[in-house]
Amino acid sequence: MSNILNGKVVVVTGASSGIGRAIALRAAEHGARALIVSDVTETPREGGEPTAEAIRALGVPTLFVKTDVSKRAENDALVAAAAEFGGVDVFVANAGITLRTDGAEVPEEDYRRLMAVNLDGVLFGAQAAARQMKAKGKAGSIVLMASMGGLVGAGITVAYSTSKGGVILMAKSLADALGPDGIRVNAVAPGTIDTVLLRTAPGIAESAEGFRQRTPLRRLGQPSEIGDAVAYLGSDLSSYVTGHALSVDGGLLAVI
Ligand SMILES: NC(=O)c1ccc[n+]([C@@H]2O[C@H](COP(=O)([O-])OP(=O)(O)OC[C@H]3O[C@@H](n4cnc5c(N)ncnc54)[C@H](O)[C@@H]3O)[C@@H](O)[C@H]2O)c1
Repeated sequence: MSNILNGKVVVVTGASSGIGRAIALRAAEHGARALIVSDVTETPREGGEPTAEAIRALGVPTLFVKTDVSKRAENDALVAAAAEFGGVDVFVANAGITLRTDGAEVPEEDYRRLMAVNLDGVLFGAQAAARQMKAKGKAGSIVLMASMGGLVGAGITVAYSTSKGGVILMAKSLADALGPDGIRVNAVAPGTIDTVLLRTAPGIAESAEGFRQRTPLRRLGQPSEIGDAVAYLGSDLSSYVTGHALSVDGGLLAVI
């Protein structure tokens, strides 16, 4: 497909399903040297073979490392697994969840569970990756998965939008903190992407057709299109891009 990730070791969280799976597969198709895919379970939500098997079939060395990103030590172990291939060059903190019970009255327990994955999990992963990149003197790239919900608010996703807005400012702040070491940090803000998460998220699933009609390109996005955006940010083609939140939304947030 392309060779823009030639020689890079890529680590992706939440990579069993949906967007994370597509990011990992696309990284392999864009020439990555090795992939480390991680998730809480290896089974894809949409069915089919596990991501690692699909990537190995492309001839790219791949490990699956079971990781709950909300646990700091598991992020450290995930990144440590990349040492086998010489260390991580591109770390993608993609794992994220939505809630059945989001909104102004979001229950405390659900709120904390969501923040533990969507915010703590992203920070712990980025920290582990940055530590290894610095130790190995690598000018790596860290990509954090935000959302259009982190750029504009919505009453049905109070906790989710808060977490994704936090991810965008995390990317900007980490870009400043890690830039002197040559490490770039960016966020990707997908619009409505056709995944199980979109089709099952209460409130969002019912709104998907409305979003599609308002999207200038008049269609939902495909997970592979997020994979291509992440491949660009992970590659040297974006060598002067850091602290940026890249919308990949068919133009949805460009219009009212
Ligand atoms: N689908 C969309 O339209 C859309 C839009 C904007 C942003 N996003 C974001 O993209 C990312 C991926 O979403 P998706 O649509 O592919 O969803 P998905 O549910 O298909 O995939 C999410 C993956 O994350 C994993 N995961 C959940 N909790 C985890 C944990 N604690 N540790 C590790 N992995 C965990 C799940 O097992 C799953 O495989 C999320 O961060 C989501 O917020 C999605």
